[in-house]
Amino acid sequence: MTQVFQGRSFLAEKDFTRQEFEYLIDFAAHLKDLKKRGVPHHYLEGKNIALLFEKTSTRTRAAFTTAAIDLGAHPEYLGANDIQLGKKESTEDTAKVLGRMFDGIEFRGFSQDMVEELAEFSGVPVWNGLTDAWHPTQMLADYLTVKENFGKLEGLTLVYCGDGRNNVANSLLVAGTLMGVNVHIFSPKELFPAEDIVKLAEGYAKESGAHVLVTDNADKAVKGADVLYTDVWVSMGEEDKFKERVEMLKPYQVNMELIKKAENEDLIFLHCLPAFHDTNTVYGKDVAEKFGVEEMEVTDEVFRSKYARHFDQAENRMHTIKAVMAATLGNLFIPKV
Ligand code: CP
Ligand code: NVA
Repeated sequence: MTQVFQGRSFLAEKDFTRQEFEYLIDFAAHLKDLKKRGVPHHYLEGKNIALLFEKTSTRTRAAFTTAAIDLGAHPEYLGANDIQLGKKESTEDTAKVLGRMFDGIEFRGFSQDMVEELAEFSGVPVWNGLTDAWHPTQMLADYLTVKENFGKLEGLTLVYCGDGRNNVANSLLVAGTLMGVNVHIFSPKELFPAEDIVKLAEGYAKESGAHVLVTDNADKAVKGADVLYTDVWVSMGEEDKFKERVEMLKPYQVNMELIKKAENEDLIFLHCLPAFHDTNTVYGKDVAEKFGVEEMEVTDEVFRSKYARHFDQAENRMHTIKAVMAATLGNLFIPKV
């Protein structure tokens, strides 16, 4: 038997098997239980963790920080403007230096190539805290939240509404179909997921018995949904696109009318957050003034409704990130799954 996770990086969903994801989700649930009962779980005693952030973050940064401390490790935040990366030093050289000092590295940024390069040259596990292409630690928290609510994943239907080709949509589509979840992408044709990602998901779905649906038809997309999921219409790095996205994505907003179309009173609403559900943010206010739209991807009514589980989901970022760090860096015996 081998310890399947030890020393591995967590970069993109395609690198893992169904059993491995299921293991990480169940392990996170176990770590959550330990935390709630106040049972120490210092699997990373004495380790140093680098947290590299090119883009801003609340949840991912807070989750990596608190998870590392709960595991007995020391996290160190290295923001884009604090270090030499990019401007004065290449990714390869940065990776080699950090790998001499840190036992694991989290990276959030733009390019998937950069996180892959850090993993290639650092010699230590690298965890993807979001790139333009994927958001894999988010996906684990999302499916843990789904499992907590329904007791299972296989056979459920998750409908992702909005920008169907962003990092969060990609991760949910690929990992969901791998684990037997029917994934529907409800978005305008211009924002359908890339063909290679749909093909990958269709291949996984064939094996797991799930199905994939990519459509701009609300009735077809949403009927029978167990989970309605949305994310911002404009991702980090695309802030010049508010005008076109607001116009294009208004019909894809999650509101009570859309929820009714699901005809499932047990459905849950998820959002990776941050969310534009009112005008209490700089961008929210700006969009309301310029385009007359006060709620973007989700209405305030849905956000505060009985269906909403996004704050549980946010908490689960910490438990799932803890599972990933402990499994890949800890001295745990995890049999081949
Ligand atoms: N969901 C998520 O990744 O949130 P942050 O951008 O705040 O980290
Ligand atoms: N798609 C969003 C996710 C934020 C957590 C973004 O990349 O900005």
